[in-house]
Amino acid sequence: MTQTITVIHGDGIGPEIMDATLHVLDAMKLDLEYEFADAGMVAMEKTGELLPAATMDSIRKNRIALKSPLTTPVGGGFSSINVELRKRFDLYANVRPAKSFPNTLTRFPADVDVITVRENTEGAYSAEGQETAADGQSAISITRTTRKGSERIVRYAFDLARAAGRKKVTVVHKANILKSTSGLFLKTAREVAALYPDIECEEMIVDNACMQLVMRPEQFDVLVTTNLFGDIISDLCAGLIGGLGLIPGANIGADAAIFEAVHGTAPDIAGQGKANPCALLLGAAQMLDHLGKPADATRLREAIVATLEAKDSLTGDLGGTGTTMGFAKAIASRV
Ligand code: NAI
Ligand code: MG
Repeated sequence: MTQTITVIHGDGIGPEIMDATLHVLDAMKLDLEYEFADAGMVAMEKTGELLPAATMDSIRKNRIALKSPLTTPVGGGFSSINVELRKRFDLYANVRPAKSFPNTLTRFPADVDVITVRENTEGAYSAEGQETAADGQSAISITRTTRKGSERIVRYAFDLARAAGRKKVTVVHKANILKSTSGLFLKTAREVAALYPDIECEEMIVDNACMQLVMRPEQFDVLVTTNLFGDIISDLCAGLIGGLGLIPGANIGADAAIFEAVHGTAPDIAGQGKANPCALLLGAAQMLDHLGKPADATRLREAIVATLEAKDSLTGDLGGTGTTMGFAKAIASRV
């Protein structure tokens, strides 16, 4: 059965990496139909809205979107379009795998394989009650953590660990200082962990977790944490395996899922054909898993690995001189 997905080309390097990704998906001859929709600055210029109703309708109808990074202009009405999309569709789980690849520019061991599961709808990014005093000398914002939000993300992490044959979930927190919010997260995580006796549960304070990730990344398996910590830690994990061009992110809710790269619009290299398309391609692989096409997801990941192994047309962030589309064509020839 043909599956229709919403495709958002996005801003900055977005259109380049999306065209590259669609080139590879087309070469795979999957039964996918694309419904193109706009968001971000492109949408603002065309329709006067950052997140047009037609785009929301398309995602609501198809329940699956593949999305490039978006720019939120300062003073755009939302603190971030991405945060807004995650909130509106209640995409509570953000899954960011960081796995070592061959021939990347990394100083770390080749056996990194960490999945960060980040709470995606609350915490410091709930952006409630943001206020700056009239004199500009102080500012406040509410960090809201709920039992429901904590429970469902920790359950998601343990279910994912179980389904993927993973052994350990590390709960990353700061409950020693942030006693109410991180405290509730940790307390709830302990209750959930007790329901999964087959999976080891470890607790780690976030600052130590950062140090441990850099010193001995191979000790980690699945991490589960709150919104802000998850955002930072997943970029740290990107650094462990060779950069932001290699980490995808799945935003999963009960009614919709949006697949993307973890990185942003990279304005410094936009429009130059320099962007690595792998992060979005790996996001497409997560999407294929989600659509119940694990064999196709594996085929895509294996083609990426084979292209890296052959050092064929790699982009500058990987030490090569290839272009975004040249790299995509090299991957497409191996699917
Ligand atoms: P960024 O992730 O866009 O770039 C950070 C660095 O990584 C830059 O040097 C960039 O050239 C490099 N980089 C990123 N992706 C790359 C790729 N595929 N290939 C090669 N190099 C790559 O982060 P930055 O500069 O902090 O943010 C730029 C804009 O992106 C901001 O407007 C921000 O709001 C937006 N953003 C959007 C996200 C989304 O739509 N999901 C996520 C993060 C940021
Ligand atoms: Mg981020």
